[in-house]
Amino acid sequence: MSTSGAKKLWGGRFSGETDPLMEAFNESIHFDRRMFAADIRGSQAYAKALCRQGILTADEQQALDSGLSAVLAEWQAGKFEIRSGDEDIHTANERRLGEIVGAVAGKLHTGRSRNDQVATDMRLWLRDEVEALLGFMRELVGALVERAQRDVDVLMPGYTHLQRAQPIRWSHFLLSYAFWFQQDAQRLEQFLPRLNQLPLGSGALAGNPFQVDREWLAQELGFSSVAPNSLYGTSDRDFVAEFLFHGSLTMIHISRLAEDLIIYSTAEFGFVQLADAYSTGSSLMPQKKNPDSLELLRGKSGRVFGDMTGFMMTYKGLPSTYNKDMQEDKEPMFDAVDTLTGSLQITTAVIATLKINADKMKQCLTGDMLATDLAEYLVRKGVPFRQTHHISGAAVKMAEDRGCQISDLSVSDLKTLHEAFEDDVLLVWNFEKSVDNRSSIGGTSRVTVQAQIDHLKQWLN
Ligand code: ARG
Repeated sequence: MSTSGAKKLWGGRFSGETDPLMEAFNESIHFDRRMFAADIRGSQAYAKALCRQGILTADEQQALDSGLSAVLAEWQAGKFEIRSGDEDIHTANERRLGEIVGAVAGKLHTGRSRNDQVATDMRLWLRDEVEALLGFMRELVGALVERAQRDVDVLMPGYTHLQRAQPIRWSHFLLSYAFWFQQDAQRLEQFLPRLNQLPLGSGALAGNPFQVDREWLAQELGFSSVAPNSLYGTSDRDFVAEFLFHGSLTMIHISRLAEDLIIYSTAEFGFVQLADAYSTGSSLMPQKKNPDSLELLRGKSGRVFGDMTGFMMTYKGLPSTYNKDMQEDKEPMFDAVDTLTGSLQITTAVIATLKINADKMKQCLTGDMLATDLAEYLVRKGVPFRQTHHISGAAVKMAEDRGCQISDLSVSDLKTLHEAFEDDVLLVWNFEKSVDNRSSIGGTSRVTVQAQIDHLKQWLN
């Protein structure tokens, strides 16, 4: 349905009708309604700021305040009725406010523009969501740490190039991801001061003509600083770009963890088994149990990355200051928040409920994975490492030629490769010992894995 230009908030200079197609093309209410609470909060603060400047009487400010609270209550109760002509959340709230409080509603927007309003709403909205995401990240780190503590005895093959490399603790593997997610959380925390800057009071672009006290507004709305230039204040969406980057990186970490667990859950590996709650079956093959949760996590990382690149393409090349292109900033931001919110929670649940098969992990530890330890044995006898690497390689080949494990070679077999081999070489063939030798900070030994757990536990508290 088309509405006459004159009825719109900006309709004064228009005499023609808006094409209904354009009306639909232009509206953002179907997605930016999510920011209803932030929009009302910003308006209530702005009305107070206007009152402080004598633009509103105390009674008028009171009327606007309770009117805005009534609008908020309608949204919260799911009773807000969107009308044709409600172009976006800002116009919808103001239209409804007018219906509730009458003509005084027309004073609210004095000196304000939707340009500083929308930038303020987005920052307020995202701030709450970032706080919630930080909570989900901590829960994920907590689940990984808890498992790492519980499963600390379990050894598994560690891989490079997806080839068996050296024995490690399963906990060490889990904690590698815990540290990634800790960094993700720290990055989001460091982002907060940049996000938490107040655009309101920038006007359409040039600033506020009623000298509203922006420092006061910032305090009232919990912002830690004030956008120091009004053109910047209305133009800037770096906080969207930065958030989308942080989100993409977190999703990449989730995706890599998912990929590892997908591989470890195959029959060929059999290291882990997903709980039924996070798997699905095949409509055709009765025996199948598919790791759909993990595949979705891996898949959704591409989606958030797409949100980021799509937004960047919209953002680049815009002339100063607000341009309607910027209306395209919200859906990627919302989508990334939703995807991260779901993904972090599912990842946490998958980790907490995962079954592991410690015996299968142990069976996959083969003697050749101790070839490095054999070289290190000779290093301890004073042989230069470059030489020991070759000698140990020759032992691997000798075992291969004989069709046996490297640990099956006798001391005299080894002595033919180097005279420094003695009876104590047999002590090398011990996976526990190999793992516990790696006890410099960050290593896979019991002591250093426990130190990692303690470090993360402390961070979590
Ligand atoms: N719906 C618009 C957006 O999301 C609000 C700002 C519109 N400002 C304007 N001058 N047309 O970007």
